[in-house]
Amino acid sequence: MEQSDSEVPLGVPRVRVGIIYNLKKAGQHKSVDEQAEYDSIETVCGIRDALNGAGCSAVLLEADTTLIDKLKQENIDIAFNIAEGIGGRAREGQVPAILEMLDIPHTGSDATALCIALDKALTKRLVSSYKVRTPKYAVLKRNSPVRLNGMRYPIIIKPVAEGSSKGISDVSVAKDRKELTALLKRNFGVYDGDMLAEEYIEGREFTVGVIGNGKDRRIFPPMEIVYKQPTQDNYHVYSYGVKQEYKKFVEYKCPADIDKKTEDEIIQNTSRVCDALGCVDFARADYRVSQDGKAWFIEINPLPGLAPGYSDFPMLAEFCGIKYDELVKNVLVAALKRYGMAEA
Ligand SMILES: Nc1ncnc2c1ncn2[C@@H]1O[C@H](COP(=O)(O)OP(=O)(O)OP(=O)(O)O)[C@@H](O)[C@H]1O
Ligand SMILES: [Mg+2]
Repeated sequence: MEQSDSEVPLGVPRVRVGIIYNLKKAGQHKSVDEQAEYDSIETVCGIRDALNGAGCSAVLLEADTTLIDKLKQENIDIAFNIAEGIGGRAREGQVPAILEMLDIPHTGSDATALCIALDKALTKRLVSSYKVRTPKYAVLKRNSPVRLNGMRYPIIIKPVAEGSSKGISDVSVAKDRKELTALLKRNFGVYDGDMLAEEYIEGREFTVGVIGNGKDRRIFPPMEIVYKQPTQDNYHVYSYGVKQEYKKFVEYKCPADIDKKTEDEIIQNTSRVCDALGCVDFARADYRVSQDGKAWFIEINPLPGLAPGYSDFPMLAEFCGIKYDELVKNVLVAALKRYGMAEA
């Protein structure tokens, strides 16, 4: 790492940064959303340009099975990790685990936090023990009896260990047992792993961004996802299809018209969830607020999408006056400070 006179005006040391990512692959896929979690090259280039613009030198490292060799050759100071990993329930933890094994600093949460957050059921169990309100749920296994533990319909079905709305199709809410059975049959036919059945919370939807650590941790005001029309019958679900055609279905509002008490509860819970999982540098958490004003934690994304002009995280940051390049820089600086590589 170069220091002192190489310090750029923005206060970022001129570090050599390896951007680590998995790209969407072209070809035949089992479902339309099979590649949903992966990034496009535009996102990787957006991050590269932001880092180079901040005075760093960024190299691109695709997170394939040769990653360890590439890391040994490239001699980077820090990794900017957006890799979703390849296969398995622990896939998001693969890259941080490799980096931690090689003692290479990296942006974002560690392998454990990423693996827990990718498992929505595990996360719900954990955050419940920190008194964060989350909808009632049951984990449903393939070819096993469906036990709903006294849950009430409507019930939303989603894969336990997916993100980017993968497995949350335009029809994902069941109003009765018959619809539930049909949904499960379809989902088990397309997606691997267990399904999460969760009480569907009718009401407003918010997503909250977090950036920085400790005394520098900033939790942005909640951004509301305002539905222009129902997405399935009378339900409102930010599904894969809705995200693809977001202009047709939703509007984004930040700051949202939300009472102080609910906003404080969402912000406090987000802080609690980040601490419970050990999320660092940046994250995004999703909530529904039911008609009686209660906030329900839905999930946390410790590797929120960074697609410029598309992902919720850059969008909500921009509403709060932080442009894309600044956001990327802030994520890097948060990590550099954590490792003692930038002034705290
Ligand atoms: N219990 C629930 N009640 C009402 N709506 C829900 C519930 N769970 C999920 N949803 C809807 O489904 C959407 C996607 O769910 P969730 O955020 O859990 O999945 P995801 O695929 O991990 O999302 P992301 O793209 O944010 O990673 C939510 O934004 C919300 O609109
Ligand atoms: Mg979500």
